[in-house]
Amino acid sequence: MDELLWWQRGVIYQVYPRSFQDSDGDGIGDLAGIARRLDHLVSLGVDALWLSPIQPSPMADFGYDVADYCGVDPIFGTLAQFDALVAEAHRRGLRVILDFVPNHSSDQHPWFRESRSGRSSAWRDWYVWRDPAPDGGPPNNWLSHFGGSAWEWDAASGQYYLHSFLKQQPDLNWRNPAVREAMKAVLRFWLERGVDGFRVDVIWLLIKDAQFRDNPVNEAWRHGHPPRDRLLDLYGADQPEVHAVIAELRQVIDEYPDRLMIGEIYLPVPRLVAYYGEGLRGAHLPFNFQLITAPWQAEGIARIIREYEAALPRGGWPNWVLGNHDQPRIASRVGGAQARVAAMLLLTLRGTPTLYYGDEIGMLDVPVPPDRVRDPAERNQPGLGLGRDPQRSPMLWDETPGAGFTSGEPWLPLGATPPVSALEGDADSILHLYRRLIALRGQDAVLVNGAIDAVAAEGDVLRFRRFLDGEERWVLLNLGAAPARVAWPPGELLLSTLPDRVPGRMDGGAELRGHEGVILRGAA
Ligand code: NOJ
Ligand code: MG
Repeated sequence: MDELLWWQRGVIYQVYPRSFQDSDGDGIGDLAGIARRLDHLVSLGVDALWLSPIQPSPMADFGYDVADYCGVDPIFGTLAQFDALVAEAHRRGLRVILDFVPNHSSDQHPWFRESRSGRSSAWRDWYVWRDPAPDGGPPNNWLSHFGGSAWEWDAASGQYYLHSFLKQQPDLNWRNPAVREAMKAVLRFWLERGVDGFRVDVIWLLIKDAQFRDNPVNEAWRHGHPPRDRLLDLYGADQPEVHAVIAELRQVIDEYPDRLMIGEIYLPVPRLVAYYGEGLRGAHLPFNFQLITAPWQAEGIARIIREYEAALPRGGWPNWVLGNHDQPRIASRVGGAQARVAAMLLLTLRGTPTLYYGDEIGMLDVPVPPDRVRDPAERNQPGLGLGRDPQRSPMLWDETPGAGFTSGEPWLPLGATPPVSALEGDADSILHLYRRLIALRGQDAVLVNGAIDAVAAEGDVLRFRRFLDGEERWVLLNLGAAPARVAWPPGELLLSTLPDRVPGRMDGGAELRGHEGVILRGAA
């Protein structure tokens, strides 16, 4: 495994900083809190933590509206505390990945304040300004991800500006070389501080159609679908010119040894894999969200694995994601028993796994009463199920009133699932299963670096083989609740998701129980 890079061998763990650990009693997680909990990550066995944004922000979108790309928001702490966190992480062999939010800034960023000050501002062209349509309305029909038009009228200067998200998140103009240079300086600022990589927010949105053409109507849209899906985003995203921009960013990252660039991309696989870039000069890992977006069903997931593997460019390293701060939690999507099977799937597939904080303890989405809703995605479009507060609920550490997360009032309601402290003492808990899976993977070159084949479904059972240098592993996952008898070559049990399976050989016709997944060492 020595020839692999750290992010190919390793497991990535996403921390949502507001919700991991509060250290000062304000009910909001912070950097000092994260530093205190690094040993949890070490005991879990992960290799890197990715922090959602920590930069100064008015928090209209909880940090995804950045007002200063080279600082730390006082809610989270100070730059000195950030440096200390990186040092503490590195001392434990953990890498630190930052969120980088280049598509838009906060409307409070000095660049935008300048840009907005008038048409002749030297910063005017740093953002996307357009004249009104002939009828005085927005320049085109583009829709914001958070509801309504993607254009905001600025009466003072008589133009509209583009915001793919909130109006407090104006889109930067990445066709402007000055913007690109300024953002490269931002990357270098953090790389110089020892950051090991970036997760780049909505990287597929950076470049827009040069002519700002109307998006076509989506004929497949039905009532109940998100309002924004009424249009197909043909012109506001995934433009061919974006790849050159990404390659420029990648070049900066490559100025430093051993750094990682992940791209956040929601696109169908054939378009997703283009983000590896020509000659693999794009993102090292274009996030693969298919385990989040696809129904939890054996045949469908088998097809997804096969198609993804077949679509990868030569030398492109795969990756899989089970959850993030924008999506319902895995245990809520598939149920607590299946969440264990999902963990086994994530950690036995070929490619870098990314897991979301709290999933290792089986946290559920936590319902948020209307008067405590914080997420603008819910506030702007209430009742459509688009809110993301439930999956951002604070980490549950222990059984004290603040769950060990805070001594104050938590910014979002706490869940009721067992905390780390309770699972710690239960060797059969999902927490221990995660530890075993991560440890097994970490020691097993076949699971990390082996090829994958024989990906198929038999009824509710998803199975595949991993193999390397004459060694093989079989992974058999029962995605259903009923026992299932499937055929496989006999092998020795390495791990079951169920605690009481007797170790030893499993013959080819043995039975998987409901919600059981097993990893077998093949006879080969
Ligand atoms: C994707 C982020 O993951 C999400 O949380 C955010 O709201 C949007 N990008 C806008 O930055
Ligand atoms: Mg705090």
